[in-house]
Amino acid sequence: MSDAVLGKSSVVTPELGTSRFVRACLRQPVDRTPVWLLRQAGRYMPEYMAVRKHHSLLEICRTPGVAAEVTITAAERLGVDAAIIFADLLLPFTPMGVDFEFLAGEGPVVHTPIRTLDQVRALRTDRVEDLTYVAQAIEQVARHFSAPRADGDQLGIIGFCGAPFTLASYMIEGGSSRNYVETKRMMYGDGTAWPLLMEKLIDVLAAYAAQQVEAGADVIQIFDSWAGALGVTDYREYCLAPTTELVRRVQALGVPVIYFGVDTASLLPTMRETGADVIGLDWRIPFAEGWKAVGEGCAVQGNLDPITLFAPEDVLRARVREVLDAAAGRPGHIFNLGHGIVPGTPVENVIKTVEWVKEFGAR
Ligand code: CP3
Repeated sequence: MSDAVLGKSSVVTPELGTSRFVRACLRQPVDRTPVWLLRQAGRYMPEYMAVRKHHSLLEICRTPGVAAEVTITAAERLGVDAAIIFADLLLPFTPMGVDFEFLAGEGPVVHTPIRTLDQVRALRTDRVEDLTYVAQAIEQVARHFSAPRADGDQLGIIGFCGAPFTLASYMIEGGSSRNYVETKRMMYGDGTAWPLLMEKLIDVLAAYAAQQVEAGADVIQIFDSWAGALGVTDYREYCLAPTTELVRRVQALGVPVIYFGVDTASLLPTMRETGADVIGLDWRIPFAEGWKAVGEGCAVQGNLDPITLFAPEDVLRARVREVLDAAAGRPGHIFNLGHGIVPGTPVENVIKTVEWVKEFGAR
């Protein structure tokens, strides 16, 4: 075989570690800071709304070809370094026997919230294969992005699931919540139901993550979006061990784990104890302070305020630079927002943000 042919084949068969996103998750040096954005495929994007005209949110999630298309379109339109599979946190509820729907303007609604030990005992953990439509979508996305991009970088593919606390809160409250009264009532008051619920969620989520990794996910992000509702003592007593167990089981699949929550400034050192490879920072904590709280030896993702995307160009550019200046090019930073892009965000500002990260984040 000629050198030319060998050279070509080494390009089409990328070696492990050619993705700057995955390398940053592992705190390896990169040519520039990788960037992707929470909710990069969502209602702010006309291409997504065009698909939503013909399909409900759950139809998109459950139709691999459509979920893959939405995932790919957003990643390519924005020029980001990673694609997060289009799915939703609540999908595992269906095989567990918990019915839910998304109501316009209200978000998710669980019709019969889980409040008793008998209900927790009745939750099924043996039907995770019903979720393989997500893995099938990941396979299609992985196939689409199998060749390196023009700059030689392999686009990262992110699978995801909820964390035990955040998923339990939706199951118990029956939807979004302000005070998490019922969740905390079970957590504090039922020494049998809460641990059993955590155990069942971990079993389902670990198996679901395994399907995603087998299908081609390079990294798994665990969303503990509402962990910030907990004080440090309660997080430590009721959630740290189950989350640590989930992180351990996902890492055993051979991929890095990103662990993300909102309003977590006081929780960051404890979240780090889960052993996650990357901790997601929300925007309320200054970036450098957040990284310091997480500690050396751990990568971080974040943390631009998503509402900055509505600001005039000079303000937005300054905020992007502020995050990158605080990271100072140290290995182990993935640029992201502190939470998801909201509806109404100007697409051109999102695209500009990605371009500025590429410009200012070059080594
Ligand atoms: O590119 C992407 O990030 C989109 C994929 C994605 C969705 N949900 C699709 C979705 C992801 C990563 C999620 C995770 C998710 N789902 C989270 C964690 C992320 C976070 O924001 O903290 C949570 C809390 C949920 C539960 C959920 N799904 C809520 C509370 C809502 C309603 C709130 C809203 O924004 O309307 C959803 C609906 C949902 N899931 C939408 C999308 C794009 C918007 C609704 C729609 O298209 O009709």
